[in-house]
Amino acid sequence: MTMFELKNHVLIVTGATGALGGALALSLAKAGAKLVLLGRNQLLLEELKEKLIPHSFVEYHVVDVMNRNALLQVREKLMAKLGRIDGLINAVGGNLPGAVIPDEQSVFDLSESDFDEVVDLNLKGTLVPCLVFGEIMAKQGKGSIVNYSSMTVDRVITRVVGYSAAKAAMENFTRWMAVEMALKFGDGIRVNAIAPGFFIGKQNHKLLLNEDGSLTQRGEKIIRNTPMKHFGEPEELCGAIHFLCSDSSRFVTGIVLPVDGGFSAFSGV
Ligand SMILES: NC(=O)c1ccc[n+]([C@@H]2O[C@H](COP(=O)([O-])OP(=O)(O)OC[C@H]3O[C@@H](n4cnc5c(N)ncnc54)[C@H](O)[C@@H]3O)[C@@H](O)[C@H]2O)c1
Repeated sequence: MTMFELKNHVLIVTGATGALGGALALSLAKAGAKLVLLGRNQLLLEELKEKLIPHSFVEYHVVDVMNRNALLQVREKLMAKLGRIDGLINAVGGNLPGAVIPDEQSVFDLSESDFDEVVDLNLKGTLVPCLVFGEIMAKQGKGSIVNYSSMTVDRVITRVVGYSAAKAAMENFTRWMAVEMALKFGDGIRVNAIAPGFFIGKQNHKLLLNEDGSLTQRGEKIIRNTPMKHFGEPEELCGAIHFLCSDSSRFVTGIVLPVDGGFSAFSGV
């Protein structure tokens, strides 16, 4: 077995036009995977496809990952064309202002509707693709799913109350689905997650960096608690995902792998 082999693996990436999903898509294309990108913005998907096509076969679908019927249509087309699904990487996720508690407010100012929306996006935005594409893996008796958790699950990170609750539920579902798949559909199907530390993306840019590129107070606190002393680069997540998607990790299921520069290991002292 060639370690980390992904050549010709049919891999679906949701949230592919995001900061982390885009970098991942490029690294998977360079490894020769057949990529199926799911996103909401056709222009961004087209731009990404142009970047990936010199490396490997790519197709994309404009779709809301919480729309089960739309995903079923994607599944039908994909199976007619490619005949199998080797992996699913669920990079969709994010936050909403009303589900964040700024320093001058408290939890009693929480918007319940924004809380619900964030839970939906991070929990059902992973659950629904797992059900739609995982069903094919169950029939094949083979496949690997990788979800995106967060540092907000194990210890409290101030402000992000809705996002933390959502990712905690999603992590629990990851373990639950891993056990369900192995017990009922065999040892060829695996479900894991990665837990990224702090990476600069569209959503957290203003929280972590000032306009002149210097660290905000919150950014400084994070770097102080990250032993490697820098934010992650999106490329630094890719190796962990290649590992979890490939047969190199064929006895690994139900884990959450931190990729965090040591943040989760550090007491701060
Ligand atoms: N950036 C970080 O530091 C960090 C840290 C921990 C975890 N994460 C998680 O990693 C994942 C990727 O993060 P990112 O920084 O790339 O986020 P991002 O906002 O840059 O990308 C998310 C992508 O998902 C798409 N999307 C959102 N809702 C969708 C829907 N319903 N259907 C289809 N597409 C939809 C968005 O259009 C966007 O392209 C997320 O789950 C995030 O919570 C990020």
